[in-house]
Amino acid sequence: MSQVTIVGLGPMGSKMAETLLAAGHEVTVWNRTASKAEPLVSRGARRAVTAADGDLLVVSQISYQAMYDSLGDARLDGKVVVNLSSDTPERLREAARWVAERGGTLITAGIMVPPPGIGQPGAYTFYSGPKDVLDRHTETLKALSEITYVGTDQGLAMMYYQSQLLIFWSSLTSHMHAMAFMRTAGVSPAEFLPFARSLFTQLGGAGPMGYAKILAEEFEAGVHPGELNSLHMQAVGMGHVVEALTEAGVETTVPRALKALFERADAEGRGHEGLGTVIESIGKP
Ligand SMILES: NC(=O)c1ccc[n+]([C@@H]2O[C@H](COP(=O)([O-])OP(=O)(O)OC[C@H]3O[C@@H](n4cnc5c(N)ncnc54)[C@H](OP(=O)(O)O)[C@@H]3O)[C@@H](O)[C@H]2O)c1
Repeated sequence: MSQVTIVGLGPMGSKMAETLLAAGHEVTVWNRTASKAEPLVSRGARRAVTAADGDLLVVSQISYQAMYDSLGDARLDGKVVVNLSSDTPERLREAARWVAERGGTLITAGIMVPPPGIGQPGAYTFYSGPKDVLDRHTETLKALSEITYVGTDQGLAMMYYQSQLLIFWSSLTSHMHAMAFMRTAGVSPAEFLPFARSLFTQLGGAGPMGYAKILAEEFEAGVHPGELNSLHMQAVGMGHVVEALTEAGVETTVPRALKALFERADAEGRGHEGLGTVIESIGKP
């Protein structure tokens, strides 16, 4: 079994350390607030002397600045740093250079599950950076989740991760608006839930409501047919949704942003096309 150091013991890092310990690895732990290491030390983890203590450093912190703060001016000769923290793709590329200047190699990652999903079936993580280096550590990292390698560019794992988060946050925020709206008429979240679930499933499916696939194909082909449901019709309908939420006394920040985006694509002269034409406006801010 391998030796691995977890740097950052928030909910994610702590669960990673616990999972690696349970899989039989030799786990060393480090956290800025040292007391968070105690539950893991009592389960058999070793307390690190510094954040750079070990040859494989798995980092899970609030941002990449936290990694700089934690590693300070330590040399990283021969070390592999696998960072699963959030930040911008450009900062990840900068971080790859920073680690390389200190003699180490950075693998960047975006993990697609919350703490209870770590180590569970279905969990996966986007990784980018040098594949041969990642390959040397897959035995250890696969204890956390499936490994989805997306390319050498260290910014890429974060782009995949953030693209997934965009879908996750915006669709769930719309779900929250829907529940709040329905509750103003006495419909409980539980009563509405079957309809929300059905829509989430259909959007990812292959039928007439399978818009994830439909929009991807349209975007690729550069055509957005709107004969049966034009963007103009949907921009007017979205305006009605904003008015309805306002009438009901529900907050409208996100719905108003959608309305503005649809109206912009309409004003740009593509109202006769389908909803997918909005992507042409998104690509040109
Ligand atoms: N939680 C989730 O469901 C989830 C899911 C997927 C991905 N992620 C990502 O995973 C990462 C970790 O998330 P999390 O929920 O475990 O906790 P978090 O609140 O994002 O991060 C907490 C960790 O960051 C450390 N930290 C913050 N600022 C620091 C600094 N300046 N120097 C050194 N350490 C610093 C904290 O140390 P102290 O304990 O000393 O404060 C703690 O170990 C994040 O980037 C997050 O976006 C989270």
